[in-house]
Amino acid sequence: MTRSQGPVVALVPAAGQGVRLGESKPKAFVDLGGKAMLIHAVDGLLRSGAVDRVIVIVPEEMVEATQAMMSGDVTVVAGGSERTDSVRAGLAVADDARYVLVHDAARALTPPSLIARVVAELRSGRSAVIPVLPVSDTIKTVDVLGAVTSTPERSELRAVQTPQGFTAELLRRAYAEANGVATDDAGLVERLGERVRSIVGEPTAFKITTPLDLLLARALVEEGTR
Ligand code: CTP
Ligand code: MG
Repeated sequence: MTRSQGPVVALVPAAGQGVRLGESKPKAFVDLGGKAMLIHAVDGLLRSGAVDRVIVIVPEEMVEATQAMMSGDVTVVAGGSERTDSVRAGLAVADDARYVLVHDAARALTPPSLIARVVAELRSGRSAVIPVLPVSDTIKTVDVLGAVTSTPERSELRAVQTPQGFTAELLRRAYAEANGVATDDAGLVERLGERVRSIVGEPTAFKITTPLDLLLARALVEEGTR
């Protein structure tokens, strides 16, 4: 087998509660134009034509109902209390993967073309690939009391999206050595001292986090952008 072949398995962490969104159900199950956010995310992965199999990670009490919502090669497993625990649970049932994508259910409107670009980078030999966009706000670091401690140079900053893609071997190693939690998977790979490649992301791959984000997502769906 050459380096570029082998199955691509996508892990979709969807086990969060969506506290910041403040809806009555876990965020991934919130409706977006007649379809749960999670379904949009899974459909996008399958429509990319670059993903062989999807593993969805949901709150334990939602496993059965979620499996019933799915068609195609989709496995549903229970997640954990932190996103890292949920990804780890998905990785545990991805034995056949040569490449792994980790893709937030909350990035429901991610264009399939972005997913395909991440996989193409992996197949061309990169072992860790993340989509990023420039930030438009100036970003500052602050201490616990709110005093500003620094102003990183904005031109060097990027906002990070998903899907993040890895060789299965590298992501497994990163999770085996991970201690504590990380807000993205590439962060764990960086701690190993491995190179992470960034590619240009997509505005519509934004994470639906707040009620304002949900309003935007619903408007985009309504408008037929997806
Ligand atoms: N996630 C998960 N398991 C967790 C926490 C988060 O699978 N224990 C998933 C979420 O379902 C989401 C993605 O990770 O698809 C990104 O997390 P985030 O946007 O923070 O979602 P929530 O944790 O649900 O939202 P909040 O932090 O506002 O509660
Ligand atoms: Mg969260």
